Parts: sequence; structure tokens; C-alpha cells
Amino acid sequence: MAIQYQEHKKIFELHTKSSTYLIGITPEGYVGHIYYGKRLHREVSAYLLRTAEAPFTPEVNKREKVAFMDSFPMEYPVGGTGDYRESCFNVRNEKGQMGSELLYRTHEIYKGKKKLEGLPASFGNGEEVETLEITLADEVLGLETVLCYSVFEKEDMIARSIRVNNKGSETLLLEKVYSACLDMDNDAFEMISLCGGWARERNIQRTPLHYGKQSICSLRGESSHQEHPFIALVTPETTQKQGEVYAMHFVYSGNFLAQAEVSQFDSVRMVMGIHGEQFTWKLSSGESFQAPEVICTYSGEGLGKMSRSFHDFYRNHMIRSVYNHKKRPVLINNWEATYFDFDDEKLLDIAKEAKSCGIEMLVMDDGWFGKRNFDDNSLGDWVVNEEKIKGGLKKLVDQVNGIGLEFGIWFEPEMVSPDSELYRAHPDWALQIDGREGSMCRNQYVLDLSRAEIVDCVYESVAKILRNANVRYVKWDMNRQLTDLGSVCLDRERHKELFHRYVLGVYELQERLVTEFPELLLENCSGGGGRFDPGMLYYSPQIWCSDDTDAVERLAIQEGTALIYPLSAMGAHISDCPNHITGRVTPFETRGHVALAGSFGYELDITKIPEAEREMISGQVEMYHAYNDLVREGDYYRIASYHENNKFDAWAVSSKDKTEVLVTYVQVLAEPNRRSRKLYLQGFDECALYHLEGTEQVYSGEMLMYGGFLMEPMKGDYVSRLYYFIKE
Ligand code: DGJ
Repeated sequence: MAIQYQEHKKIFELHTKSSTYLIGITPEGYVGHIYYGKRLHREVSAYLLRTAEAPFTPEVNKREKVAFMDSFPMEYPVGGTGDYRESCFNVRNEKGQMGSELLYRTHEIYKGKKKLEGLPASFGNGEEVETLEITLADEVLGLETVLCYSVFEKEDMIARSIRVNNKGSETLLLEKVYSACLDMDNDAFEMISLCGGWARERNIQRTPLHYGKQSICSLRGESSHQEHPFIALVTPETTQKQGEVYAMHFVYSGNFLAQAEVSQFDSVRMVMGIHGEQFTWKLSSGESFQAPEVICTYSGEGLGKMSRSFHDFYRNHMIRSVYNHKKRPVLINNWEATYFDFDDEKLLDIAKEAKSCGIEMLVMDDGWFGKRNFDDNSLGDWVVNEEKIKGGLKKLVDQVNGIGLEFGIWFEPEMVSPDSELYRAHPDWALQIDGREGSMCRNQYVLDLSRAEIVDCVYESVAKILRNANVRYVKWDMNRQLTDLGSVCLDRERHKELFHRYVLGVYELQERLVTEFPELLLENCSGGGGRFDPGMLYYSPQIWCSDDTDAVERLAIQEGTALIYPLSAMGAHISDCPNHITGRVTPFETRGHVALAGSFGYELDITKIPEAEREMISGQVEMYHAYNDLVREGDYYRIASYHENNKFDAWAVSSKDKTEVLVTYVQVLAEPNRRSRKLYLQGFDECALYHLEGTEQVYSGEMLMYGGFLMEPMKGDYVSRLYYFIKE
């Protein structure tokens, strides 16, 4: 049993394979955090709540209630009644007074896990997950808050979320509803987060904690290129192979806050949820509010173990697509090949050449609809431009299928161009503030997806296209962040609901899409990797990682992304050089090796690239077919990091049974007068022997891991090698 309640001790025990999480209830009903860490096997107790230490509990010394509130390790801290650390929950009554007190009322433990109404969330059957729901109540407000913990034993994960039920007669104003909190003693923690910008998403950042608050967040309406809804607190000695890690990842695609706060008593409070700025929710009597889910994990064996737990968890319990465990077709996308300048003939030329190289799908990117030849018009007019695609979409799709390729298409459904039929007919459909000219970004406005009729119309315009042609793949793009937070349909009290309502609208659209078209391969995208989050993963098994396809830049982007996401989730393409964003020239082979670590494809004009490169494509496609089962399903090990050593990068993927291991090595900068470089590989069976493909060499797993493997000296910058080991 993953979850047990010790009635006499008032302790909940949550056990995964290698971690234990303990929650205690004080005699007054405060619900506190006792322990999260290495798996415990024997009797537990509640002394870590420190209720016997000054300041005393309220029953013992009522005068000191505030001191108690401000130091007790709360499972779900509330604002306004004495806990001055970051609260997770702020609520106002009808008079506008802010404050609450949540005390234990009841709990329920059951096998399986409920769906979260309107939200993406992890799933599992009664064999895979067990759930604890602790109901807390505020008697004054007539309010219930349900703390949900779903324990995935095998993957060492706890999925947490919050449901608020207004059981009283007043209308309440929720001003903050975070989804998870972890109060611990500060163990000289350092915080790891993923930060960047457009074309340099999810670079790893690690900084020591200091007194006060350190946070990352998004107020951009999407999870964003800039900061990612993930943080991990690690002990200073933590590396890939050792050390303690506490991680939280938010299953949400909008505004968020992830924060660690070190208090006066050297405790640290780690919280995650929808950002409290720009958020309120009006909760009438009888209504409920569901906050999104946070995925929590503890690793006592370093970051590598954390990554592998997240990868397994997302593959087993978040990605629903039929493609989850399937090889994805090798695609060629025309964006970097043509930008807006293409027609059916050009696409067919690309398709024919692609087919001769073994590529399996053609994706028609931005520019096929309305009168779009640049980014300043037609978003919203999802009707094929017959001047470019002569004879219509179905004809083109049939022709591409006739060549032997599947067909995919690009949409940006959430947006509208001011120069479009849709905008001319419905100018009030864009997010907007009365009397203020909308802030333009990439020449477009954002549709008000808080409105059901707009969601319906957007859905129908996308679905109509998919119903009428054999389209097997959709790239769902979103090329600007939200501004002008106004909806013509929301009243004053509800305007701060708009950001969240927008995200719910996006989820509804994607839910409908994957329900009506279950066989469709959906790839989410947002101006590159601006909405790469677990919420999107629930709908699409892969997400476009970044507009930056430069092989060297991709090392850092993919390392940061793979810290938490399975490799199969990362859209990764080989593009032309000089790279369109960095201007860097890297070998075609290296671009292939780097893209192999993701959902592999091409993004170039195959009819124009040098003959020598074109000739390499069929070999690369074969390489993809040879290794994709391993890359998609295997265990990932980070061996070396270019962002740390500034010279080289290496990672390995090992099959679950450790019978095969693929190591990728990229020498970013050549060094003169060097001998071979020794790398300590990982992912091998230490008792087994391995043959290195393409050589006569046989190595023992233990030598490779503890003695090291010698990387041959290579001349040149940006050169790479694959090493494929197979168990003898
Ligand atoms: C941004 C995406 O990341 C690109 O791949 C491409 O689809 C463009 N948008 C098209 O506008």
C-alpha cells in the first residue's frame, strides 16, 4: 500500500519505491509537513513538526498563535492569519476582508486517480497510483480545501493538486490558489531552474539559496521561453550521480510562480502554482475551483535519477497520444526551406526529393491560407490560398500521398491578424482594452478564448480542414504572448480570471482535437519552445523545442529540456547552414547526431542543399530507424555538459534491460596537443561485456563506468561521434 494513515499518531505515510512523504495533524487540526526524503521502512513519528518547541501551539498558549503560524511547517499555508511566509491560499469574504484558517476535517484514500475537470493531468489505474484527499475546512467562510496527493510508487512521483469548494452562503474571491507547498529545513540548498529567451530556451541555471524569496515565473499568458515552470532544490554536493534533489514541475501552460523562500528559522518553503498577480476567481456558493497539478519528486541519487523518474512518469502517465510508444514518421518541414514563399509545385518538388531519401512525411508550415505571403495578415482565415495551392488542399495532399509521403499541416488557431476576414467580421473577438489600441506583436492579436463561441468557431475552422483531407500531423503554433487583458464579455469582478480562462480555452480546443482525431500526430509549438510544458504534453506527444536549430545551441537547449522531459518529446530537426539564427556552420553529420536525440526531422530545402549532404540523408534516416526505439523508450544519462565545461557534450541512452547503450559525443571546440579524453559512461550492466559496434573491441560494463571510456582525439570544431554498445 502506497498510502497509510496511522490514526493513533495522526500521520499520513506516502511511500514510493525510494521515497517517503509524511504529513501530520496537530491536536488543533493544523496539517503539517513532517518529512520528505529517502524511503523509510519502520515506525514513523511526528516530532519533526516541533510543536513542543517555542513558540507554543495555540492550545497551549493562545497569545503566541502568530508565532506558531509563522514557523509551523504547513502542508498548505494560508494568508492573513499570521503566517508571513509566502501563502498558497488567499481568500476574501463578501466584505473584502482577507484571511482564512484551514483545519483538518476528513480524508479519503483510494486506488487510482480522478480526472481534473478541464485540466491536463497525470493518469493511472488502480494498480499504478493511489490517492489521498485531505479535506480542510474554514468554518467561518464555509469553505473546504481538498489537498490531493496521488502517489505513483514505481516512478517515485507524487502528483499534487488543490480543489476549493465553497460550501457557505457568501460569494468568495479567491486571490491565490497555489497547487503545492513543501516546507523543509534549509540544507544549504541550491536552486536549479530553466531559463532563457526565444531561440535559447531552457538553459540550466543553478544558484545557492539566500534569505528571502527567490522565484521564477511567467506573467506572459503561457509557460514561456523565458522561465520554465520547474524548480529543483539540491544539496550542494549534488551531481548527476549523487546528492539530494527535491523537484516540482507544473502541469500548466499559463502564468506560474515557482519559488523558494528561506525564513528567519532557516526553513525553506518551496511553492508552485498559478501566479497570484493577475489572478482572482469569483467563487459563488456551491461552486468549486480546481487548481492545476504539480508533479513532485525526491531523488537521493542525484539529478540523473530525477531525470529518469520524470521521463518514465511522463511516458507512462502524462502522454496520451497513440504515438507515445511509436516511432514518429521522419518529416520534412518547409519553414526554413521557403518561409512564406512557396506553392504546390515547390512543395511537390521537396516531397519527391524527400521521398528518394527515405523521408516519410511532408509538413506544410505557415503561409498556406488566406492571402498570407508574410506574417502581417490572414490569421483566422483558415481557408487554403488557391493561388498558392492550386486546385485546393485535398488535391495537394493526394499528390503528396501519391509520391509516398504522409502530409502534415501548420495552424496558429489562437490568433487573429487585424488584416483578416475574421477580424473584420468580429473585431471584438480579440483580447482588448476599451479605448486603447491593441499592442501588436508579430502583427497579430490574441483571440479571446475565454468565450465559448470563439472556441467553437476556432475549433470548427481547424477541424473542417482535417475532416476534408488526409492530414496525419498538425503543428499547433502560438507566436505571441498575451497583452491587453480585456474581454468584452467579462465584468469588472471577473477580469482577473481572464488569463486562466484563456488557458482553459486552449485546453478545451486541444481536448476536442485529440478526441475527434485520435490518430493525429499533434506537435505543439510556440514561436519555438515557448509553451513546452507538461500541460501541452498531455495533448501532444512532442513539442517543438526551439526555433534555434543550430547544433551547438541545441546542446544546451536539449540538455535543459531533457533534464525533465523524455527525449521523444523534443521536436528536433536538421536544418541548413549557415544556420538561419546564429550564422554558424556545423557539419551535417553533427546536426544529425544532435537531432537524433529528439523527434527527428528536416527543416531545409532538400532540392537546394549540397549534393554531398543530400546523399547523407538516407543514411541518417536509417540511423533514426535503427536507434529510435532505444532513444524513445530508454533511460537517459547525462555524461558531460558543454554548458559546464565549454568544450564538449555527451549523453547516453540505455535500454531498460541494459542490453544496448548509445553514446553521443560532440566535441564543440577542438583543442591542440590533446590525448584521448576519458569519460565515465553510465547505463551499463556492470557484470556484462559489451561489444562496440564497428570495431573488434569488447569492454566490460564496469570498466566503462568506473574506469572510463577513451574518446578518440578528433580534429575540428563541432564534430561528433555515436558509439553503440551491445551486450555480448
Ligand atoms: C514559429 C515556429 O516555431 C516556426 O517553426 C514556424 O512554424 C513559424 N512560427 C511560422 O510562423
